[in-house]
Amino acid sequence: MPFSIKKLNLKLPAVSMKVPLFLLLLGMGFLPMFILGKVMTGSFMQTQIDQRMIEVQNQCLITSDRLTRSGYMNAETKDAMMDKELDTIGDIFSGRVVVVDRNFRVIKDSFKLAEGRLNIAEAVLRCFQGESTVLNEEGKHYFAVTTPIYSAMDPAVIDGVLLMTVSTENITANTADVSEKISFFQVVAFWLLALSAMLALFLLMKPFERLQVVLDRVASGNLDETIQENAYKETRQISAAIQTTMTKLKTVDQSREEFVSNVSHELKTPITSIRVLADSLMGMEDAPVELYREFMADISDEIDRESKIIDDLLSLVKMDKAAAELNIAQVDVNALVQQILKRLRPIAQKRNVELIYESIREVTADVDEVKLSLALNNLVENAIKYNVENGWVRVTLDADHKFFYVKVADSGIGIPEEYQEHVFERFYRVDKARSRETGGTGLGLAITRDVILKHHGAVRLSSKEGEGSVFTVRIPLNYIS
Ligand SMILES: Nc1ncnc2c1ncn2[C@@H]1O[C@H](COP(=O)(O)OP(=O)(O)OP(=O)(O)O)[C@@H](O)[C@H]1O
Ligand SMILES: [Mg+2]
Repeated sequence: MPFSIKKLNLKLPAVSMKVPLFLLLLGMGFLPMFILGKVMTGSFMQTQIDQRMIEVQNQCLITSDRLTRSGYMNAETKDAMMDKELDTIGDIFSGRVVVVDRNFRVIKDSFKLAEGRLNIAEAVLRCFQGESTVLNEEGKHYFAVTTPIYSAMDPAVIDGVLLMTVSTENITANTADVSEKISFFQVVAFWLLALSAMLALFLLMKPFERLQVVLDRVASGNLDETIQENAYKETRQISAAIQTTMTKLKTVDQSREEFVSNVSHELKTPITSIRVLADSLMGMEDAPVELYREFMADISDEIDRESKIIDDLLSLVKMDKAAAELNIAQVDVNALVQQILKRLRPIAQKRNVELIYESIREVTADVDEVKLSLALNNLVENAIKYNVENGWVRVTLDADHKFFYVKVADSGIGIPEEYQEHVFERFYRVDKARSRETGGTGLGLAITRDVILKHHGAVRLSSKEGEGSVFTVRIPLNYIS
């Protein structure tokens, strides 16, 4: 089981958005239709009422004129013909026709309810002042129209008022009818919309779902899955991105396995030697003390080697943690390099290697003193270790306005071209026998590179076999986290 795959969140949001998307589509389709239905019924009713009002107003004007001309208001006895006509008009408009005379007395009521009584309603009073009114109170199922009846003798004199009250109940009933039809249409449309939204979502989401199935398999640990869903640009991009990530993951996974097997191998080697030495000592009955001494010294060397490997591994593990663990401070790099050289001078002298330090300018930089010291120490140590008798190592410190540079050049054995890109890998050693002899684990340059990268710097190697090597380190003067 790959170690990091469980941490991957491979859930496509599009797939879990199906229900909200469905509701959104439905809402967007249905809401305008619902509002439109409401507006349509409302305006239908208002138009019907307005139309009816105009008709009634016209009828009132005609009737009031006929009343004037027939002298209805001044006749001693009621004009039966006109009376009948007023009843008929009332019937036609399913309303009530009332005529009020100058003394506010009702002289005609098609409903025969108020004849002889007084009517001093506000609309009637205003009508006697010459103002026709239309009264349509909200919530009441009728409207009332008043029209003045002018005198036949003097058209400026108002003899009476014609008051017509018309019910709007049939209009309300008609509107309810229309509204019912609209509602029915809306229900049908709603289901059609729901069905088509569902179908569209089903078809649209299919490629995402197919992709999700593959991703689920990847998340469950199958790194060999091929992810390719080309239906949309988005699925294509997601597929490509995940495929790239997976390839990287596979590489990481491989190098992790390699690392673990290297570590176990490296840790086992000294222990095997110790075992062989100890066994052979125990197998000898009367071994001389000198032999004991010699074997014990070898065993002690192997123990040193084991503990060095463990120390180096611990440094690497620490380095793998977040960059925040760097202990950044203003450090005098000159002093730091000088201290490293002082520490390594005895080893150099033992091999008769000349150590030269060249400081082109004073350098202070934001670095982790302990880690950087370890990194540079490894470079100088290598330059001494992989050198020739009577050789030299030259360390140069320089800086510009942005970076400082440490160059470690040696007159050593050099590194063949084909190995140069590998020397920074963990446990990599060019000449296994030689570096064994010098006690190397192959972790030194890996640690060096890690430290430099953590400082946002870079390290470059140029070397020629048999002529020597130059390692150049470049690190920013100011550390930006
Ligand atoms: N200056 C150099 N000249 C020639 N070869 C070098 C030089 N520096 C490194 N190498 C080669 O690169 C290999 C890796 O170096 P590295 O420092 O990582 O490991 P090491 O020196 O073998 O062990 P360690 O530094 O962990 O004790 C060395 O084994 C050696 O073969
Ligand atoms: Mg080394």
